[in-house]
Amino acid sequence: MAGRIPDQFIDELLARTDLTDVVASRISLKKTGQNYSGLCPFHNEKSPSFSLNPNKQFYYCFGCGAGGNAISFVMEHDHLDFVDAIEVLAKDAGMEVPREQGAPDRYEQNAELLKRLSESSQFYQKQLTQHPDKKKATDYLSKDRGLSGQIAKVFGLGYAPAGWDNLLKDVGTRAESQEQLLHGGMLIEKKEQPGHYYDRFRDRIIFPIRDSRGRVIAFGGRAFGDEKPKYLNSPETPVFQKSQELYGLFEAKQNTPIFDQIIVVEGYMDVIVLAQHGITNAVATLGTSVNSQHIRKLFKLVSKVILCFDGDKAGRAAAIRGLEASLPVMQDEKQVRFLFLPDGEDPDSLVRKEGKEAFNHRLEDSSSLSHVLLEHARNQVTLGDEEGEAQFTRNAMSMIQQIPKELTFRSILIKQLSDQSGIDKDTLGNTAIPKTRHQQQNTTESSAAPEHTSNTTSDEEYYYPPATYDEYDSQPSQEYSTPTHYDSGKKSTFKKGGKFNKFKEKEVYFPPAPSSLSRIKQASLCLLLHPHIAKEIDIPDPLINQANDELQTLCKIWRYFSKYPNHNTGHLLGSANNTQIIQEIQTLLNHPDAIIKLDIPNPEKEVIDTISFKENKLGEEYLKNKGPASIDTDENKQDIRNRIEQMRQKKS
Ligand code: UTP
Ligand code: MN
Repeated sequence: MAGRIPDQFIDELLARTDLTDVVASRISLKKTGQNYSGLCPFHNEKSPSFSLNPNKQFYYCFGCGAGGNAISFVMEHDHLDFVDAIEVLAKDAGMEVPREQGAPDRYEQNAELLKRLSESSQFYQKQLTQHPDKKKATDYLSKDRGLSGQIAKVFGLGYAPAGWDNLLKDVGTRAESQEQLLHGGMLIEKKEQPGHYYDRFRDRIIFPIRDSRGRVIAFGGRAFGDEKPKYLNSPETPVFQKSQELYGLFEAKQNTPIFDQIIVVEGYMDVIVLAQHGITNAVATLGTSVNSQHIRKLFKLVSKVILCFDGDKAGRAAAIRGLEASLPVMQDEKQVRFLFLPDGEDPDSLVRKEGKEAFNHRLEDSSSLSHVLLEHARNQVTLGDEEGEAQFTRNAMSMIQQIPKELTFRSILIKQLSDQSGIDKDTLGNTAIPKTRHQQQNTTESSAAPEHTSNTTSDEEYYYPPATYDEYDSQPSQEYSTPTHYDSGKKSTFKKGGKFNKFKEKEVYFPPAPSSLSRIKQASLCLLLHPHIAKEIDIPDPLINQANDELQTLCKIWRYFSKYPNHNTGHLLGSANNTQIIQEIQTLLNHPDAIIKLDIPNPEKEVIDTISFKENKLGEEYLKNKGPASIDTDENKQDIRNRIEQMRQKKS
């Protein structure tokens, strides 16, 4: 059992590591007096507020408050946990990490839980060959879905028979293992009988979700028919965070001879059917849109990532989210491409219809990121005149600016935009355009919300970044003013490459997103309009315990409908004894978004995504509040603050 890393070793490692090397190998730094400064890698900014003090071996960002030592930098920058960050630094320093006997690491703490999940997976697989009703499952897989026994084995597919306690009786024989199954999301506690459990997955085909090392960490279960939800998934657990995992990644690594590109699709079945047809390098997100973490993870393995989307409106909206997630993590020598499938097809249906070769041709013909970016900027244009051309340029620049500054790829895109807009590269390169609210949302979370729900406002979630001094210098304040022609509904009549040299930099503004409900309120509204989804949703305790009115309202609605799945909003209003909540609910139901939410295809997904977004936020805040240990004195803080101030004054 790998034990704790001795504190002494950590001190030694920090003594041998130069923070400047660690940071400079990851972001570009400039020497400013005794310190170094640069653009902060932990938030989006256009002028440097990140400062590094080589003598004291700490860094601090005045923009976002990130700060700490070499270990915390590697943790945050490389998205590693503490132990992995130590491993990385030790490797660079040529040191071997020693272990004490004693406290187990995170995975070892969860080792028992992982064992139960592995046993669960074996149990479900066994049911596929041994259960009296197995024919229902094997017929579904082979006849309805055309899967071979061999591919079912590769992906460890299984069968959860009907009934409330099949797994419970087989794997959860001891109180201890029941507890572990509960933590692993496999059992649900009976509301009326605390301490008593029932199986989460019943009467479904089971897809084990493995982490990239092949350990089973969660499950997806597909209904045989049209029952809702079509796919039931494990909730988030200590070993499963759905926005970080990619279904099929382990299998893809195992079974792809030349692993140089990865296709990201939407569904479990897409991955499996592609693999059966010899396209073994596909992975799927787990009911969320592809996010920056996914892309970063994949770029560590391959140089080309192809994002695959349905050809319909929702698919195009998802592609834009994929585009926005890719921009901040782009690297030279790496590619993200986009494959749009014909309307009504998914990779599963298409590869069965057309075969491997045709699908491979589609992959080869996929669109480049720059193409999709410029097309999107063009499609958003609402005006058919010079102002439309300016809109196009601003739209494109606001996305290009998300790409790390040092990349050649960014310069190439600016050059392409310059060719299309007729505005010279330098002017474009110096144009500071704040991110849209939508973009800010997408680089930090993994929303799968449909397009019409993405323009939301909530002060705590979306804000315009305070203009930095660079922006004050180059841009008048009307940058934030309300545009007069926004959303006039007219379509651009411009062809690609139209040139409008009259475009003036000082006219740059960015339309504020239309105001709407906050994400939490939207989630509440979804629950009010689709009460049946409550029972499939889980709100984790840390969120329930938050002192936040909006969140509390959501929890109340959720609790009510989890308890009374057959009640409707009328019952809820009738039973509420608190006038404030009655008013809140009525306001929500009277909101114009109610009509939209009534029709959305997957309200459950929206609510779940909002909850996991909030949960992630809470985690981040917790880490921030813990504070960097090495910036412990006010003196240090004041020191950096003074230097930043000096830099600012020099600039202006
Ligand atoms: P789709 O609804 O596109 O289904 O969901 P699919 O993959 O084509 O499934 P089949 O072919 O009908 O079996 C795509 C993905 O979205 C998530 C799952 O991860 C699914 O693979 N999803 C979908 C859910 O988590 N729950 C649902 O109810 C539906
Ligand atoms: Mn499908």
